[in-house]
Amino acid sequence: AFNLKNRSLLTLRDYTPREIGFLLKLAADLKTAKYAGTEVATLQGKDIALIFEKDSTRTRVGFEVAAYDQGARVTYLGPTGNHMGHKESVKDTARVLGRIYDAIEYRGFGQEIVADLAKYSGVPVYNGLTNEFHPTQILADFLTMQEHVEKPLHQVSYVFVGDAANNMGDSLLIGGAKLGMDVRLCAPKACWPTQAIQDEAQALAKETGARIMISDDIDAAVKGVDFVYTDVWVSMGEPKEKWAERIKLLTPYQVNAALMAKTGNPRVRFMHCLPAFHNTETTVGAEIKAEFGISAMEVTEEVFESPASIVFDQAENRLHTIKAVLVATLGG
Ligand code: CP
Ligand code: NVA
Repeated sequence: AFNLKNRSLLTLRDYTPREIGFLLKLAADLKTAKYAGTEVATLQGKDIALIFEKDSTRTRVGFEVAAYDQGARVTYLGPTGNHMGHKESVKDTARVLGRIYDAIEYRGFGQEIVADLAKYSGVPVYNGLTNEFHPTQILADFLTMQEHVEKPLHQVSYVFVGDAANNMGDSLLIGGAKLGMDVRLCAPKACWPTQAIQDEAQALAKETGARIMISDDIDAAVKGVDFVYTDVWVSMGEPKEKWAERIKLLTPYQVNAALMAKTGNPRVRFMHCLPAFHNTETTVGAEIKAEFGISAMEVTEEVFESPASIVFDQAENRLHTIKAVLVATLGG
């Protein structure tokens, strides 16, 4: 019924609600098959280039293991060691890779780079995170939500709290609007998505019945939600100088036990795409502690480690959902 063969995934806006539903179902089936030992490999002989201009743990291992499980091969092209963008244009690199690879994943900066790779390579291109969007993360998040509630996704409500002007805010807004969900962004006005993204989400909501709230009022935005979602206050590629300003702006929006309680939902779950700044066990965590005297930013250690936290389910589901995208777009 669904033919996604040779399609790129640049943002979720390129897919219909039913196509997204199909990918989620395929991911759930592939997950079951992997653990039952009945997975069928459909990508034998395929080669996939993985371009990473920014760091990654989950997205890289998600693509690599998904490819290996399905019989494909990958080549990792890291932030250094290839010519793209400095000695060779994106357009030329795209045409080279398109001759040698069956598909390309790109993580990096502007959305126009991933769009150009798709335009000039002639093979499916997957957005593994840009400044603007992170579509493979949203697929994992929706699969995870589906696993944790007994109702269809269009009846699910979630609030994204924090820096809603980043790739996760944009993607959760557009993704939830597409699927007709109750989507809320809770942030100070300075951290709202662009007007263009907000308008796009409102237009989608008119078609799908999604309920959209973008508000700086924490009590109103978190009331009754099934899921509270947050992300880092300073994203990859943004300068350290942003720390002070964001900590000042976003401290009232930290996901802590009090905020979780404000939902009024005793079964509310906590979500985060990760990595998270919830303690001082990392170099960056220690630096922030030294500079600002705080030991957590967007989420407290208490909430992160609480039974409500489903962040590692999300992380695992990166594998299964990325695999669904590969199988649907490349599978033989
Ligand atoms: N959530 C996510 O994309 O993680 P990585 O940066 O580790 O890939
Ligand atoms: N907003 C974060 C997401 C990381 C998965 C970033 O871009 O750094």
